[in-house]
Amino acid sequence: MSDTAGTGALPARGVPAARVLDEIRALRSADRPTHGGRLFAYVYDPGVAGLDELAQAAYAASAHVNGLDPTAFPSLLAMENALVAAAARLLGGGPGTAAPDVVGSVTGGGTESLLLAVKAARDARPELTAPRLVVPASAHAAFAKAAHYLRVELDTVPVDPVTLRPAVADVAAAIRPETVLVVASAPSYAHGVVDPVAGIAEVAAGAGVRCHVDACFGGWALPWLRRLGAPVPPFDFAVPGVTSVSVDLHKYAYAPKGVSVLLHRDPALRAPQFFAYADWPGYTMVNPVIASTRSGGPIAAAYATLRHLGEDGYLRLAASTRDAVAGLADAVRASDGLRLMAEPESTVVCFTADDPKLDLFVLVDELTARGWHTQPQLRYADLPASVHLTVTAAVASRVAEFAPALADAVAAARAAGPVVLPPELRALAAGLAPEALTPELVAGLAEGLGLAGGVPDRMAVVNTLLDAAPAAVRERLLAEFVGLLQRPAWGRTPGG
Ligand SMILES: Cc1ncc(COP(=O)(O)O)c(C=O)c1O
Repeated sequence: MSDTAGTGALPARGVPAARVLDEIRALRSADRPTHGGRLFAYVYDPGVAGLDELAQAAYAASAHVNGLDPTAFPSLLAMENALVAAAARLLGGGPGTAAPDVVGSVTGGGTESLLLAVKAARDARPELTAPRLVVPASAHAAFAKAAHYLRVELDTVPVDPVTLRPAVADVAAAIRPETVLVVASAPSYAHGVVDPVAGIAEVAAGAGVRCHVDACFGGWALPWLRRLGAPVPPFDFAVPGVTSVSVDLHKYAYAPKGVSVLLHRDPALRAPQFFAYADWPGYTMVNPVIASTRSGGPIAAAYATLRHLGEDGYLRLAASTRDAVAGLADAVRASDGLRLMAEPESTVVCFTADDPKLDLFVLVDELTARGWHTQPQLRYADLPASVHLTVTAAVASRVAEFAPALADAVAAARAAGPVVLPPELRALAAGLAPEALTPELVAGLAEGLGLAGGVPDRMAVVNTLLDAAPAAVRERLLAEFVGLLQRPAWGRTPGG
């Protein structure tokens, strides 16, 4: 029997530590590069020497501490309260501001913060049997998830195809007596534009409804960009009518994953977020957030990251990011056939193609082949497919290389020509009812598209297929596909 018999994660006989780490490093070599400024989604890299080591050491020091009981682990409570205070200060709250009574909670991520903002709003109105949530179409998909989980109806307000923002009048018109929460993004993920927060908060307040500003993505970047002179409109607690704000520290605060902050203007607004239960024989449970047991690791790592970088550090990183955004946007403007979806106003560069001979999905593959990892966005309503670049400070040192790489990739995509889907596949995507997509059909499709063993390097055909399908079919295809990927690895050592 080899020492890795049994299953891969649980061998019959334990494996020496050094070898286990080698195995993990070997697995990681197949991942996209988390550092180096060539990945434009998923990972936020400041490119600061020594910061990873600090965050890892802080993480390790608190990894086994449990946030379940703040009285047992006061270290965690102290760090959480410090993070909440820092976020509140940055976002227009705290002593001496218009929102002196701001309180908050540290959550595990943006989605959890948004779920809790919706839960607090819903549970503040227990008399409503059919509560509703108003979101701009550009709001993060986590609100749809919250609506789904919490059985709240979603009312989506369209965004203007040019400004990529909702009209305040449309938001006002969408508010009904059952509306418990109105949402604005600062900025939106897809295009990086800041919604008209002041107008949205005003109409929400006028209707007596809470207003949440989702600053998960850019809430830790906009204030520094403003201090550097960028024309950032008011979007936080400085705006009357804003009742809650979320900001992810694992995005532009550059903390390792697993940490976001949800702030409420006052304790009464936060109260319905909590869950307490004493009617069982075990410990009395009180959870401010969704998770009960929570590792102290992400919280300690975020605390260490904020303290080490400090305001001066974040200002420097924001300046690098701003310069990188400007350089990337120039490269797009200089590319024949590409068009910026919006003038960059935060940390996103988003572009589309307005030449039918230039296929965006082929371009994304050509960029990947050259070591630049961008994020394709499928067409939505009257918005065309686009390419999204989340720009972080580490990109600054790469900007000079990006322009020639983009030009080269554009030439290669033109030479390759657009993807032509077999007509029967296109008809299938466009015409299928989602419930007709059985697991067997999707498995056959995945096999035919070369996806059986995972995700291939070239994804243009798959993206074209998804682009041709309505949202409900996309959702079903992707859920079935991920179901195919997530199968137990019986008896295999990963990568072995
Ligand atoms: C605006 C916005 N809100 C919420 C989220 C969800 O955050 P998470 O992925 O941490 O759950 C994101 C993630 O990109 C986002 O951009």
